[in-house]
This record gives sequence, C-alpha cells and structure tokens, in this order.
Amino acid sequence: MIKILILGPTGSMGTLISQHAFDDEDIDIVAALDIMNVGDELGVLVGKKDPNHVKIRNITEIKEVIDETKPEVAVDFTLAEASEKNCMICVENNIRCVIGTTGLSNSFIEEFEKKVKEYNAPAVISSNMATGVNIFFKMASVLTEYLKDWDIEIIESHHIRKRDNYSGTSLTIAKTICDTLGVEMDDVVKYGRPKGPALRKKGAKNEIGIHCIRAGDIVGDHIILYAGSGERIEFKHQAHSRNCFASGAIIAIKFIADARENKIYNTREVLNL
Ligand SMILES: NC(=O)c1ccc[n+]([C@@H]2O[C@H](COP(=O)([O-])OP(=O)(O)OC[C@H]3O[C@@H](n4cnc5c(N)ncnc54)[C@H](O)[C@@H]3O)[C@@H](O)[C@H]2O)c1
Repeated sequence: MIKILILGPTGSMGTLISQHAFDDEDIDIVAALDIMNVGDELGVLVGKKDPNHVKIRNITEIKEVIDETKPEVAVDFTLAEASEKNCMICVENNIRCVIGTTGLSNSFIEEFEKKVKEYNAPAVISSNMATGVNIFFKMASVLTEYLKDWDIEIIESHHIRKRDNYSGTSLTIAKTICDTLGVEMDDVVKYGRPKGPALRKKGAKNEIGIHCIRAGDIVGDHIILYAGSGERIEFKHQAHSRNCFASGAIIAIKFIADARENKIYNTREVLNL
C-alpha cells in the first residue's frame, strides 16, 4: 500500500481525490492537512461509510504530521502560495509529490527541481491530470505540424471561482504549439487583445492569441482554433466533471511511488504518451 498525505483535502479537488483514494486498495491515506475543517474525520467529511479515522490536521503542524505518519507520497491541489511552501517541506523530507495546483512560479519550479535531485524524491507537476487533455496536447502538436502556416488561437473557459488567468492548461497548449513551431512563447503569445485598432500578425509563428472566459460553473473547456484561407478547424476538449482530474491524480500517485529517475515528470510521461 502507498502511504499518502493529502494537502487541501476539503477543497473541490481534495474531496474527490480523497474519495478515489479511499476506494483504492493500493492506497492508504495516512494524513490530511488543510486550513479548513481541522479536527474533522476525513472519511466522514467525504461521505465514506467506512472511514479510516484520519483526522484533518492544521497545515501549521506539517512537520510533526510527517514525522508521525511517514507518508511516501504527498498530493497537493491547493493554492500556489500554499503549494510552494508545503511541497518544499515535503520534498525536504524525502516525500514524493504529486502537484496539481496551478499558477506555480518558475522560480519555485527551478528550486523544487534541485530539491527533487538532492533528496532523491521524484515528483509529478501537471496543470491538468486528465487523460483526455494529455492526449489533446499530443494531438495539438500533430495538428500544428500540419497547419504551421495557419493562424492559431486558444480559448479557455472556466468557472468564476478560478483564481488564475490564464489557465495552466492553456499555457501548456501554447507551449506545446510553440515547441512544435520552434518559437518562444514570450515572442509570439498575446494574452487577450486590448480595445482599439490593431492588426493580427499573420501565421502562428508570428502570433498566437490566448483568450480567457470566466462564467458560471464551467469545469474547464479548451479550444484550439486553427484558421486557414476559407476554412478552419476547432479542436476542443471539455471536462464536464472533476473526476477526470482526480482519477489522473491517482494514476500519478501510483506512478511516482515507483519512479526511478530523480526528476519532475509531467502527465504525458506518467501516461507514457
Ligand atoms: N492539475 C489538475 O488536473 C487540476 C484540476 C483541477 C484543479 N486544479 C488546480 O488545483 C487547485 C485547487 O483547485 P480546487 O478547485 O480544488 O480549489 P478549492 O479552492 O476548492 O480548494 C483548495 C483547498 O486548499 C486548501 N488550502 C488553502 N490554503 C491552504 C494551505 N495554506 N495549506 C493547506 N491547504 C490549504 C483550502 O482550504 C481548500 O481545501 C487550483 O490551483 C486549481 O487550478 C488542477
């Protein structure tokens, strides 16, 4: 059994991951840390009839909880500032991390990567753990390869509670397209377009727009619009339940528990795509 620590177990993703983990015979939840629902029994909170009696402890007790429960893998879907602090503590205690939180800074990822090597604790960091989305990334590079000279735009839509613009997934799509075209994101990506006269530069090698919609309870939609002369292709992924992310997180937990190389993996590597 893989002993896991859940960071942020009472959030939308944390609750689902807890439910999936309770149902998985290869996973044993040994600890759960949050700033909410401290003292509550996790199994009861997430609606399990047979809870394992793990109580949610305050994140301020992270060090003591790690020492007491000795988790092998920590799974974190919280807030960028919280993840950056807590996952650093986990890796420094040789715990392998699965980080789904989006909006992490580049400086954190650079520092974290050094710790992964120093403490022999490989990790998964992925802005989107859904299997379909990762196949979508793969297909985006295939389409881009064929449609190099067309205009490419990315449109992402999410619920109004989402804290980061633009979505981590839309940035991964942009990076995938840029890598395929051999251009740098900073040189070509335009985040929305301001009001006023302006002409779009022709062709994705010169400009790629990313547009962001926040409305209602949309779980997560991403469209890549390829527009040529007299025709267009809209390539679309829609998540209609967070279950796709939670089951991806469970796959990542099992993968990282056995991973040999001390590096940061992404979901495409986890899924061997
Ligand atoms: N990688 C993916 O596949 C994927 C999928 C969905 C969401 N996400 C990302 O996961 C993150 C969480 O999303 P959500 O919808 O569950 O958010 P949420 O707001 O519902 O949950 C966040 C949780 O973090 C907890 N938290 C806040 N500060 C904390 C701290 N200092 N220490 C410990 N816990 C703390 C909150 O109490 C809450 O339980 C976001 O960054 C979101 O973009 C990633």
